[in-house]
Amino acid sequence: MADLESQLLQALNEKECIADSGDFAKSQGVDHMAVVGVIRSLQASEMIVAEDIDHFRYALTEESQTYLTAGSPEAQVFAAVGPDGITLAELKVKVPGEAGDVGFKQAMQQKWLALDKSGGEPRVVRKVDSIVDSTQALLADIAAGKEVPKADAENLAKKRKLIKPEQWKTYKLTKGAKFALERKKPATDLTFDMLAKGTWRTQEFKDYNFNALGVLPAGGHLHPLLKVRTQFRKIFTQMGFEEMPTNQYVESSFWNFDALFQPQQHPARDAHDTFFLTKPAATPSDRGVPADYLQRVQEVHEVGGYGSAGYGYSWKLAEAEKNLLRTHTTAVSSRMLYRLANQPGGFKPAKYFSIDRVFRNEAVDRTHLAEFHQVEGLVCDRGLTLGDLIGVLQQFFSRLGLKKLRFKPAFNPYTEPSMEIFSYSEQLGKWMEVGNSGMFRPEMLRPMGLPEDVNVIAWGLSLERPTMILYGIDNIRDLFGHKVSLSMVRRNPICRLGL
Ligand code: PHE
Repeated sequence: MADLESQLLQALNEKECIADSGDFAKSQGVDHMAVVGVIRSLQASEMIVAEDIDHFRYALTEESQTYLTAGSPEAQVFAAVGPDGITLAELKVKVPGEAGDVGFKQAMQQKWLALDKSGGEPRVVRKVDSIVDSTQALLADIAAGKEVPKADAENLAKKRKLIKPEQWKTYKLTKGAKFALERKKPATDLTFDMLAKGTWRTQEFKDYNFNALGVLPAGGHLHPLLKVRTQFRKIFTQMGFEEMPTNQYVESSFWNFDALFQPQQHPARDAHDTFFLTKPAATPSDRGVPADYLQRVQEVHEVGGYGSAGYGYSWKLAEAEKNLLRTHTTAVSSRMLYRLANQPGGFKPAKYFSIDRVFRNEAVDRTHLAEFHQVEGLVCDRGLTLGDLIGVLQQFFSRLGLKKLRFKPAFNPYTEPSMEIFSYSEQLGKWMEVGNSGMFRPEMLRPMGLPEDVNVIAWGLSLERPTMILYGIDNIRDLFGHKVSLSMVRRNPICRLGL
């Protein structure tokens, strides 16, 4: 290609003009399309100017190509008839197919042949001794690229369909404004050398390509979960919530379950749903849990209190000391509520939220992993009601763009009443579960020391679910874990949640 380019520039330099690129291609022994490629590229660099030359010619069809040697159909039929004539049936055998039919008709029209019906079966006979095959001669001229009379060409093309029109372009080439024997590579940068020598004045520079995509920054990129988390954080902080410290994946069963009035033989605690630690397997209860509080939790489980009958079983300290990977961020909420109840200066109302990782020993599939993130919010204040919970949820979810909510009674060991939250998706045309909520039970709050008129409304949802919807990811393994594509992490767009 580069060779062809310099050949072309050379030829143009010598003769100032290449009259027809088609002839040039022939002289180089290359296909004209190859020359067209070179012309286009040199034209773009303004090194040459190309002027269109339109070409038109007739070409032989596959059928008429055979007539160049065998003669036209009418000539074939004339030859077949011979001086003695033959029957129509014999003719059909000698010149079969279309050539026979068309040739017979043409020969009759030209009055070369006649049908003799005088005796018995009609016979085809010659009316002239010899013929000139002018159709074959015309086809031979056209095949050789010679001019033929327009009327003859049109007759062959339109009536007899023996030739077909062909159109193509070649180019007349002259030197362009930036003609040179060799292509100069335009500079992409101004250098010290150019400035020092003054060559920048004549140096050609490459144009800026404002459509080019920028180079990806080599630094880190935010994963979609981090972007969505940031938006959730903004929504919570705009609503006056304070973030809870969640930097503790390992919890004791006490904060994850017992403090939440979840009975020790509850199925969620057994090895199917909870990852228990083996090393260290337990947290001694005197670390961070005052003895009197521990005592009250034991009592409420065993015999109740605060208007509750309790569960009536024998509560085991060893079970509460078992270490686990927290199964929900509500473990953090229970620590924080205990702290709130016992802070110096006494209880003050609070609004808390958290967004962090939790772990469950579940079968992994396209919507479940053994670890995920929970978003949790709670309001702790005097005299709160279910109406407050519904109002806060309405505010919170409408900031996510989910304005239509419905609630369905549900069960959590630590809330009463409990509600599943559903939102109507205009996109999917159906109600979707978007979260879980409730009012923390007195069996959880009173042992902590929260005043009797203080209630806590709380709700939780996963971070993965909205992220998958927002980013159009339908398999959670494409969002989180070892199968995640790094280019997805590099290229994922900003999160428009809550805008
Ligand atoms: N902890 C619950 C869950 O794991 C969510 C929740 C939080 C429910 C607060 C009610 C109140 O699904």
